[in-house]
Amino acid sequence: MSKKTVLTTSSGAPVADDNNSISAGKRGPLTYDNHYLFEKLAHFNRERLPERVVHARGTGAYGTFTLNKSLSDYSIASFLQTPGDKTEVFLRFSTVGGGQDSSDYARDPRGFAVKFYTEQGNFDLVGNNTPVFFLNDPIKFPDFVHSQKKDPRTNIPNPGRMFEFWANHPQSLHQMTILMSDRGIPFSLRHMHGFGSHTLSFWNKAGERFWVKWHFKTDQGIKTLTGEEADKMSPFGAQQDLVDSIDNGDFPSWTVKVQIMPESEALNYKINPFDLTKIWPHKDYPLIEVGSLELNRNVDNYFAETEQSAFAPSNLVPGIGASPDKMLQARLLAYQDAHRYRVGANVNQIPVNAPKCPMNHYQRDGAFAGSFATNSGCPAHGGEVNFYPNDQGANGAPVPDSQLMAPPMPVLEDAWIGHHDQGDEDYYSQAGDLFRLMSEDQKQQLVGNIAGGLSQASDSVQARMIEQFTKADSDYGVRIKAALS
Ligand code: HEM
Repeated sequence: MSKKTVLTTSSGAPVADDNNSISAGKRGPLTYDNHYLFEKLAHFNRERLPERVVHARGTGAYGTFTLNKSLSDYSIASFLQTPGDKTEVFLRFSTVGGGQDSSDYARDPRGFAVKFYTEQGNFDLVGNNTPVFFLNDPIKFPDFVHSQKKDPRTNIPNPGRMFEFWANHPQSLHQMTILMSDRGIPFSLRHMHGFGSHTLSFWNKAGERFWVKWHFKTDQGIKTLTGEEADKMSPFGAQQDLVDSIDNGDFPSWTVKVQIMPESEALNYKINPFDLTKIWPHKDYPLIEVGSLELNRNVDNYFAETEQSAFAPSNLVPGIGASPDKMLQARLLAYQDAHRYRVGANVNQIPVNAPKCPMNHYQRDGAFAGSFATNSGCPAHGGEVNFYPNDQGANGAPVPDSQLMAPPMPVLEDAWIGHHDQGDEDYYSQAGDLFRLMSEDQKQQLVGNIAGGLSQASDSVQARMIEQFTKADSDYGVRIKAALS
């Protein structure tokens, strides 16, 4: 006979009855000694974390990054040295604007956040399925997100507000053109590319720095939905598709490529390589294949792993650095701050976030400190020294490794500190190039998608948007104007 497992309270005491509360008589009332009932209700009240302020709806899976080209000429990053080396990853896909209860099939960028558990700490590439973004100054991010989320009065998405923001921000035109194109709604999370989007950097043993963009090209091929097709999909379809394909051993994969620009070329390159609204044309900086990424294991528990996962652009490792990109600079702060609010001070001790290598630091205490001490990488933090510098280095107390100092970041111009307006940048050429690359069918889809939303905006917003489209390509402007009238 198999041994029964006895149900217990959260403090381990056996429970005699889990169906009936304690009451004075069959009809009640309840009595005050219902501490087990109270424990259940109180825990239930605390079962949620605040949802992410953006990218709330997501799904994650584990996988493997396999390097097939050494990047040792460019970077000392431990996981980029030896072809064949494998690094475990956790990837969370998401939509951006909708809450946790929204649909998988919104016309919205998709988050593509990859955590590489390297031997020298976690490297997080917190990107999207698009190579550019709507903004190049982070001070606009809260305004932008407010305009894209639900109307504050009706709690209903309002395209008029979205276009009102875009009409005032020509820097959004390139990303908005991608969003409204036939690529705006991926068929599944497997059938889309991923991009680090920002310019990051590599630095090598000689202290030379290179500017880098990361690309993940889907091996499943691009597959998309029209708005009408998306409306017919089940709201959980994309999550189901990913879970099923991994459960069935049909592991999705991406070919990983980088674009590399020597540090000195940034100054004289024809576009600002740190402007997140722009791509680097491949003919100037070709894609170099460096490896592959495969997803091969679903999470066991969605909440513990996917919901508590926390990605931060500031999670960098030796050999990989940031860049002057203003958006990236702001993100270096924003994410860890969000995690402390959403999950807590010891967010990095939770297994999905903890590095797979030792984590030796002098940060102490806080809620749940040491809870995951048995998990590899997490410190137990007993009585050992908790300040630095100290005299305990010989006894194993952690010390900084000056060999791993990143080279200083250049300031690329004779710079003055102040509010610098980027209004004189060219926000039209690349949007126009994209429009001109589209087939007739793609142009028609683009125009239909834009007109559907823009028709709900004011005349003044429509006029300013038409002006932007016309600057990108006169045919783009003519077509939108015709569709609106
Ligand atoms: C200044 C600009 C930005 C700010 C302030 C910002 C802020 C945030 C915040 C606060 C979160 C929620 C984090 C959490 O609670 O765990 C988030 C999530 C996310 N952001 Fe951003 N964001 C910015 C721009 C971008 C850009 C340019 C990209 C892509 C290129 C991006 C991709 C993502 C992704 C993929 C997530 C979800 C990560 C996950 O799966 O947990 N964000 N962002």
